[in-house]
Amino acid sequence: MRMNGKVALITGGGSGIGEATCHRLAEEGAAVVVADINEDSARRVADAINNGRGNACAKHQDVTNEKRWVGLIADVVKQFGSLDVLVNNAAIAPIGTVEDTSLADWSRVQRVNVEGVFIGTREAIKVMKQKGGSIINISSDLGIIGEPTMAAYSTSKGATRVFTKSAALHCARKGYAIRINSVHPGFIDTPAAAGAVAEMSEEEAVTFQARILGSIPMGCMGAPIDIANGILFLSSDESSYMTGSELVIDGGFIA
Ligand SMILES: NC(=O)c1ccc[n+]([C@@H]2O[C@H](COP(=O)([O-])OP(=O)(O)OC[C@H]3O[C@@H](n4cnc5c(N)ncnc54)[C@H](O)[C@@H]3O)[C@@H](O)[C@H]2O)c1
Repeated sequence: MRMNGKVALITGGGSGIGEATCHRLAEEGAAVVVADINEDSARRVADAINNGRGNACAKHQDVTNEKRWVGLIADVVKQFGSLDVLVNNAAIAPIGTVEDTSLADWSRVQRVNVEGVFIGTREAIKVMKQKGGSIINISSDLGIIGEPTMAAYSTSKGATRVFTKSAALHCARKGYAIRINSVHPGFIDTPAAAGAVAEMSEEEAVTFQARILGSIPMGCMGAPIDIANGILFLSSDESSYMTGSELVIDGGFIA
């Protein structure tokens, strides 16, 4: 029970990597708050955890809503007594090159993927700075290297990567016992990955999959649990000397 006594809030907890993370942290003894813009999916995940004798509750949240962040964190502290772990996982991943992305689409991606992470991190620091905590920001391999077909998304994940280091250094300098790290998944078999491919024309999808799968040294996509296990490590005290780090979990893609 590596997470006994800890309270964890996971954004975008209703699907894919977020869902696997909620289950994994609950299995290790954490009280889990499953937050998602899709309330039904958050409730489904929380119910499954509670039916398996874990401790979870579902909360509706749009990560772009600053007021909701303040209210949600206050609710969590009131209900569970503390907030020990925040996983900023919610994101959107539309397809679009630099030439065919509208300003509105660009801004929407940065609002969800960057501003959401910023607001969450800032608000969590306010409550964690007394007792300590761990914040994990989900970036991507595409926050380290560019992807021509996902210009806005790659940019948002690069921003998440460097924002994580800035915030981690601030907390260390202030003497807060708060660690902040980023996780960089490669290509993981989730509804988002399937959705991104579904947005492409048949020809684009075939080329994209051949290009991506062909360049993963381990030869296959990862599973959500592969990422959840990394998030568990960063959430637990086992990673107590890590802050401002980037954990790449990608079957060797970046290497
Ligand atoms: N799947 C991959 O291959 C992959 C690769 C690299 C990084 N990632 C990152 O991992 C994270 C999870 O991705 P996934 O593949 O599990 O995605 P997913 O689409 O399966 O899940 C994302 C969840 O976020 C929620 N969400 C979307 N907008 C939201 C908002 N404004 N407020 C609150 N919740 C919102 C969705 O409802 C959904 O439940 C994301 O940060 C993604 O960028 C995924």
